[in-house]
Amino acid sequence: MADLREVLENNRLWAERMRAQDSAFFERLASIQTPRFLWIGCSDSRVPANQITGLEPGEVFVHRNVANVVVHTDLNCLSVMQFAVDVLRVRDIIVCGHYGCGGVQAALEGQRLGLVDNWLRHVEDVRDAHAEAMAGVKGAEARWDRLCELNVIEQVLHVSQTTVLREAWSRGQEIAVHGWIYAIRDGRLRDLHVGADSPAGAARAYTEALRPGVAQR
Ligand code: CO
Repeated sequence: MADLREVLENNRLWAERMRAQDSAFFERLASIQTPRFLWIGCSDSRVPANQITGLEPGEVFVHRNVANVVVHTDLNCLSVMQFAVDVLRVRDIIVCGHYGCGGVQAALEGQRLGLVDNWLRHVEDVRDAHAEAMAGVKGAEARWDRLCELNVIEQVLHVSQTTVLREAWSRGQEIAVHGWIYAIRDGRLRDLHVGADSPAGAARAYTEALRPGVAQR
């Protein structure tokens, strides 16, 4: 495991390598930020947005929190979205969950961990809203996987219902929202097919994604 000194040294070597590959790399980044993507993902250390997508600095604007939750009163997440959509004019918002999410597991099992329980209550709400469908999923692992997927599907709907996205769509801005899930065990991203580029599309995609058998592995 890297210690702090190594981390700083790694940074020095990385900056040198980047400059060797492209002498104007940092100068260009310093002058303008034009990412195409906004990533809303889990804080989990095993799911780093840039690394798993091969995106370079400057290509993805990132918001991460425990269990990739989008709450309509979360000023932090809303501010990130508003800045990304209105100012940076990103074209795609990716909500990315992951299998094996500890936050989702805590919500699934009603674990008590401390302050974070209040945050994870939002995932418990997802669990409760889909109690019937969850009851039909057999096996602890499969239930955990499914709640990870349902949580993404639900958060994509939340993104599409924010004032930020509704206003962008109503003024004709081209922007879409997508729901992906990452598997730590094989490093692969999967599309949950809940993407949309309009309010009607978002409602349709949500209903479609919840149909039994859809989006389940
Ligand atoms: Co997680």
